[in-house]
Amino acid sequence: MKIIDGKAVSNLIKDEIKAEVEGIISKGHKPPHLAAILVGEDGASLTYVGSKVRSCKQIGFNSTLVKLSEDIPESELLKKIQELNDNDDIDGFIVQLPLPRHINEEKVLLAIDPNKDVDGFHPTNFGKMALNMKTFIPATPYGIMELLKRYEIDTVGKHTVVIGRSHIVGRPISILMNTKGSPGDSTVTVVHSRTINIEEFTKNADIIISALGIPDFLNANMIKEGVVIIDVGISRVKDDNHPKGYVIKGDVDFESVKSKASYITPVPGGVGPMTIAMLLKNTLQSREFKS
Ligand code: GUN
Repeated sequence: MKIIDGKAVSNLIKDEIKAEVEGIISKGHKPPHLAAILVGEDGASLTYVGSKVRSCKQIGFNSTLVKLSEDIPESELLKKIQELNDNDDIDGFIVQLPLPRHINEEKVLLAIDPNKDVDGFHPTNFGKMALNMKTFIPATPYGIMELLKRYEIDTVGKHTVVIGRSHIVGRPISILMNTKGSPGDSTVTVVHSRTINIEEFTKNADIIISALGIPDFLNANMIKEGVVIIDVGISRVKDDNHPKGYVIKGDVDFESVKSKASYITPVPGGVGPMTIAMLLKNTLQSREFKS
């Protein structure tokens, strides 16, 4: 069993981007500028956004963090988004999800200028991705495709089972994995919370991409010998023995599957760090994608 080291690959990608930024600056241009809007104080979101901003600094991007209070009216958030749309200094921005319940996520995503939508969540960009047109690919699925590519994992004609159908991971990765190309060209099955007997599908999978959010969900009884496992789960599980009071767990029971799988992404240190690297890559590409 080989470990797919997302931390190492993400560092490589960040180094590649850093070198490109140095080239941009040496030609007298300004570096890319990424902004992030964070609404409220959700612990996990604070961590993720903090990491995104820190990574910008590491690689020479400019960054702006817009922190808004939990009870901000939706109209104020939409106004802030319009400001970022109109600000020529900002190449791309994200609104960290999830949002508080009084805010309509769909309205928010539609308000973002598709040319600055480095998350690739706007319907225009999602549609372009589905049609295999050049656009921003959502960072987590983009990171998974990059790991498959860099580890030269054969996906063509393979049976890929995606667990979960979220707009951020399951749905887009299912589209990318059956798009023409390599990685891609897979035969894809999507299973989800209403699927009857998930293991009937996972047992026949050559590649499993799990984005369910249930710790230790996938075990050795549900897989076949030699399967490639991509674990997108990042659940915080209470653990009083840990200084933070919790540990991060994936969807996959690592100890159980490790003797059967051929490749596996660990949690943490697998897909997670790739998400940030690919968001930075999208930001770097944003000038190229402007229509
Ligand atoms: N919440 C969890 N993942 C993501 C992501 O990739 N982008 C944004 N904006 N919010 C998220």
